[in-house]
Amino acid sequence: MSITSPRGTQDILPGVVHKFQYVEDTFRQMCHRFGYHEIRTPVFEHTELFLRGVGETTDIVQKEMYTFEDRGGRSLTLKAEGTAPVARSHIEHKLHGQTQPIKMYYITPVFRYERPQAGRYRQHEQCGVEVFGASSPQADAEVIILADTFYRALGLSKFELSINSVGCPECRATHRVALQEALRPVLHELCNDCRGRFDRNPMRILDCKNETCQLHTAHAPTTRDTLCPACEDHYGKVRELLAAASVRYKENPRLVRGLDYYTRTAFEFLSVGIGAQSAIGGGGRYDGLMESVGGPATPGVGFGLGVERILLALELEGVDIPEPAGAQVFAIGLGDVAARYAFALVQDLRRAGIAAETDLLERSLKAQLKYAAKIGASQVVIIGESEMEKQTALVRDMAGGEQKEVPMATLLDYIQRK
Ligand code: HAM
Repeated sequence: MSITSPRGTQDILPGVVHKFQYVEDTFRQMCHRFGYHEIRTPVFEHTELFLRGVGETTDIVQKEMYTFEDRGGRSLTLKAEGTAPVARSHIEHKLHGQTQPIKMYYITPVFRYERPQAGRYRQHEQCGVEVFGASSPQADAEVIILADTFYRALGLSKFELSINSVGCPECRATHRVALQEALRPVLHELCNDCRGRFDRNPMRILDCKNETCQLHTAHAPTTRDTLCPACEDHYGKVRELLAAASVRYKENPRLVRGLDYYTRTAFEFLSVGIGAQSAIGGGGRYDGLMESVGGPATPGVGFGLGVERILLALELEGVDIPEPAGAQVFAIGLGDVAARYAFALVQDLRRAGIAAETDLLERSLKAQLKYAAKIGASQVVIIGESEMEKQTALVRDMAGGEQKEVPMATLLDYIQRK
């Protein structure tokens, strides 16, 4: 039996990888434009980090982590999300002692044991940013605007931004009581998951996709109804800043997101039409995260965007992703001596910064010409025995078809000028 890639994972083959690079390169450029610096954290972390950071009651921690014991008996977990590792690194390297705020970005694989379907994988890639040390609404607005500008730079336009405020621990406590009071009479009607959430994390009930639960909670109090004046003010300013930057958004008071660390601003970008897994990105503020993973109180805000879903959205919108350029030159040497010359010429061209290739299969002239056309070479250099004698080479322009005999002494120069 042949071995395949594990369920929910995929190979990104050479013909497709340029699409990922297009998204990643555009993201990198955008992050640099906004003043963010790249951070790379390990692919696995101590399990404890996600338990404390993401929250013990979340689906991620309860059902989705790839946790294993290493040979030294330590419990480790493959990166289940990007924020807690960056917070851990920030603490470990005392980044709070550096010039504030700290603005970082990452492009990373994320591993979650979820039921695979279109747009949902067990290994996916996220482009994310995290800002530490800024509690202002400007920081929230900046990360949202960064994501919006990035999507548009890729060529996407059919997406919506949903925003909400989930409040701070203070107003969340008020909400918890109000929500439990409102739902207690219908508790027995709610799904198993929601009954479990009632005591542990009732706010998540508002986010349940079960239709019966949605019906019973349609008029339940949202965090929006119980925001304290400081959270209300912060939320209002974020909306003003988005409006001033012409970023369109919809308010969704039921948006609570699936990770426990969020405070105040929560947001999601939804692509219109890619199917059930329509969230192409999401994020928010997490002012309590640093303390919960053992660091000094430090405000934070950021997002993670799913690259595979972005690619689905790009395909749906018919955006053309630029193909990588082919070889500029293909060199053909006929006979041993000329073939050796062609081989050496190609190395010289490459050292001079020109994308060049030559035959590796000892094929006939006809087959080599066919191959050169297939890989999109713009010029073909042909050296036969008589050219070898004359110390010249034939340079054929593949687009126009014209051919010129060039002395070997000036060949590199000639090709470079072309
Ligand atoms: P998240 O909403 O769990 O947030 O994931 C962010 C994005 O990753 C989602 O919106 C989606 O595009 C993509 N994604 C998530 N799970 C999958 C999957 N199984 N298959 C394919 N794509 C997926 C976080 O992870 C937070 N760390 C984001 C954040 C950063 N919040 C603040 N800073």
